[in-house]
Amino acid sequence: MFSHLLVASGAALIVLCGICAAERSWEYEPKSVTGSSSDEEKLKLSFRVDRIKRGEYAMSGEIDWNYDVGDDTMIEVLCYRSYTGGNDWKIMPWSMPYQKFENFVNTFYKDIVIKNFGHCTNLPRYEKKYQPPWPKKLYVFDRCVMNGDGFPDHVLEGYYKVIVNFTGEVHWVLTAVAKVTTKLY
Ligand SMILES: *[C@@H]1O[C@H](CO)[C@@H](O)[C@H](O)[C@H]1NC(C)=O
Repeated sequence: MFSHLLVASGAALIVLCGICAAERSWEYEPKSVTGSSSDEEKLKLSFRVDRIKRGEYAMSGEIDWNYDVGDDTMIEVLCYRSYTGGNDWKIMPWSMPYQKFENFVNTFYKDIVIKNFGHCTNLPRYEKKYQPPWPKKLYVFDRCVMNGDGFPDHVLEGYYKVIVNFTGEVHWVLTAVAKVTTKLY
């Protein structure tokens, strides 16, 4: 009887540790989000970081998407890290290679963008495969805080800069900087 209990509690311990090991060990504070566009008639974007309350920040903004995504619309995501946030940015291995927009929507967009920002934007969701056309409309981001889905569980502390680079009919860039620290339990 006693040994059964021991086995059961041992199993429970293993399950619990599986849960803690899978938990994200870092937190982040957004520092800045900026955008630029080669043609604001076709695509205009503006973002900001707001303080929600002491120590809590969120990203808000808009993308006024007014051009047709064509076969020439390409995107890449570059990730850099710096220990100080100064000028020593080094490229990280997690960047997303330059690719067609359609491929991006079926992969990275579904797995990272919608999982992290789906709750705070009106960006389109695709349960099945995305088929063009991409809807032209005003996309709004309302106090977005990422939940970290799709990111590594452990990352080095420091400043991270993510550059989302769109080319094609409009060349536009979204640049976000965040400070990452190890969580204190
Ligand atoms: C975006 O991609 C274009 C085409 O590859 C490149 O010329 C440009 O330098 C990139 N911009 C940024 C900010 O990385």
